[in-house]
Amino acid sequence: MDLGLRDRVALVAGGSNGLGLAIARELAREGADVAICARDADRLAAAERELREVAHGGVLASRVDVRDHAEVQRWVERVVAETGRLDIVVTNSGGPPIGYPTAFDVAAYRDAADAVLYPAIHLALTALPHLQARGWGRLLFIASETAVRPVGDLTLSGVTRTGILRFAQGLVAELGASGITVNVLAPAYLRTGPVERAAADLAARRDTDVETEVRRMARHIPLGRVGDPQELGALAAFLASDRAGFITGTVQLVDGGACAAGGLPNHEGFGRDVFR
Ligand SMILES: NC(=O)c1ccc[n+]([C@@H]2O[C@H](COP(=O)([O-])OP(=O)(O)OC[C@H]3O[C@@H](n4cnc5c(N)ncnc54)[C@H](OP(=O)(O)O)[C@@H]3O)[C@@H](O)[C@H]2O)c1
Repeated sequence: MDLGLRDRVALVAGGSNGLGLAIARELAREGADVAICARDADRLAAAERELREVAHGGVLASRVDVRDHAEVQRWVERVVAETGRLDIVVTNSGGPPIGYPTAFDVAAYRDAADAVLYPAIHLALTALPHLQARGWGRLLFIASETAVRPVGDLTLSGVTRTGILRFAQGLVAELGASGITVNVLAPAYLRTGPVERAAADLAARRDTDVETEVRRMARHIPLGRVGDPQELGALAAFLASDRAGFITGTVQLVDGGACAAGGLPNHEGFGRDVFR
């Protein structure tokens, strides 16, 4: 299927690794110009090289911490100045620590909002005028299954992802027939760095191996396995295309059926900061 993404310009925050990189890869393969950002310079350079190998359009990698609003502003302006337009925006960053509500003081709640919620809102607000100027746009928010259901000890994730969801839903109502669609991606257990780290951690504690622990993580998932980040990347590329023009205001679970079946993941033995 030709998604018609040639000549589109996409911004992918947190695009040097994991889900952000998987989305950037799909968009680049489909011909979009792709601008990614992240903090670690080496990983960013490696991601840029990887993207250039598959890209049909341009690739631009920038060191930006999405918690720094001035840096994000400059990033968006630089990309628009270099490409002359902006069409697709993917918000993303690291995840907050694991824990039940009383494990955190209010400063930790603030940190989580600063790291997850406000960067998503700020990037969307900064990019929106550029999408509105063209009368076409795609806003995709990477959230989590916690946007849809409570998951025991993923308190900070739930608090921040539901905020992203309500913000996205408000945008849908406000933007109306502007040509801009807004959707929330709700992944769970896709095999990226945090999942690898958690499996390695558990393997060390239990004297097993990583593959055994990855299989164990999938016990509550009806499809019987963890997901591949490319499975989210493919969905994002479709949602970013003209073909998805009537799809807005949705929450797209990519979780192997876990939410539908109702089984909860067990984070016993996970390091508190494993999702960072
Ligand atoms: N993988 C899953 O199954 C899953 C499930 C539910 C939710 N999520 C959520 O989805 C998001 C992405 O997860 P992932 O698994 O892809 O994580 P990941 O592999 O660790 O990738 C995170 C990416 O975001 C960048 N990043 C992190 N903090 C940033 C910041 N302050 N400014 C700019 N870039 C930043 C990282 O690069 P630098 O560190 O170099 O900045 C990296 O490129 C997270 O919020 C995670 O909690 C993932």
